[in-house]
Amino acid sequence: MEKPVATANIRQAAPPETGAGQAQIYAGQFSRLYQRERSLRKQLENDYGLLRRNYVNTVKALIAAREAKDPFTEGHSQNVLRFSLAIAREMGIEDNYIDYLEIAAILHDIGKIGVPGEILNKPGKLNYIEYALVKTHVNLGAKIIEQAGLPKEIQLMVAQHHELYDGSGYPQGLRGEQIIQGARVLTVADIFEALTSNRPYRPALPFNQAAEELQKRSGSKFDPKVVGVFLKIIGNPGIAARTRPADPNLQKVHVDYVRL
Ligand SMILES: [Fe+2]
Repeated sequence: MEKPVATANIRQAAPPETGAGQAQIYAGQFSRLYQRERSLRKQLENDYGLLRRNYVNTVKALIAAREAKDPFTEGHSQNVLRFSLAIAREMGIEDNYIDYLEIAAILHDIGKIGVPGEILNKPGKLNYIEYALVKTHVNLGAKIIEQAGLPKEIQLMVAQHHELYDGSGYPQGLRGEQIIQGARVLTVADIFEALTSNRPYRPALPFNQAAEELQKRSGSKFDPKVVGVFLKIIGNPGIAARTRPADPNLQKVHVDYVRL
């Protein structure tokens, strides 16, 4: 036979209050839980932010160390990063995507570690094989990003940073919006930075001439929307101040969109 339940036990098991009193207790508990959740979330966000900053700074330091060995590319990635972020913010691109762009901008030429220095620094024109070797840096870079387990978006931005809007770029000859937005931003930033830098095969172009190059090719080689935004902000000290004076020892001027 089933044991009768004692009335005192039922009272103990039941909530101590009912109605408005009970609602108040629940509200208090929810409020405490909510505050706790908020403070944990804030802590997590702070920790994540710190972790991400440390990681970005480490990557920047590694790239800066590599570029410092070469006077022609010293500071290149840092400037490409600055220009890319300025364009992306002006375009109103969302923060998460800008976070990807930040890493892609720093790492866009990481694949050049696989290209012999004599080719990268050759003063004259490259032959067919040398060009082919330079071009391998985009796929190698994308592979390094993939192996590092970084998000697909970053991998694609690096893989496509030499694609051109009219399909004349490499490695795939993608055109227009087949090229992801981050790569279209990166290309304009990269090209302007490279044009205003000395290269073994030509001196830096003056600021205005480099801006004209972009304007002339807006809508053909480059995304017109990106160029439009960049030309709007190009006079900002963060951009203009980072262009370099031409090295008078470098004579030959030819713009080479492969060797950037
Ligand atoms: Fe590149």
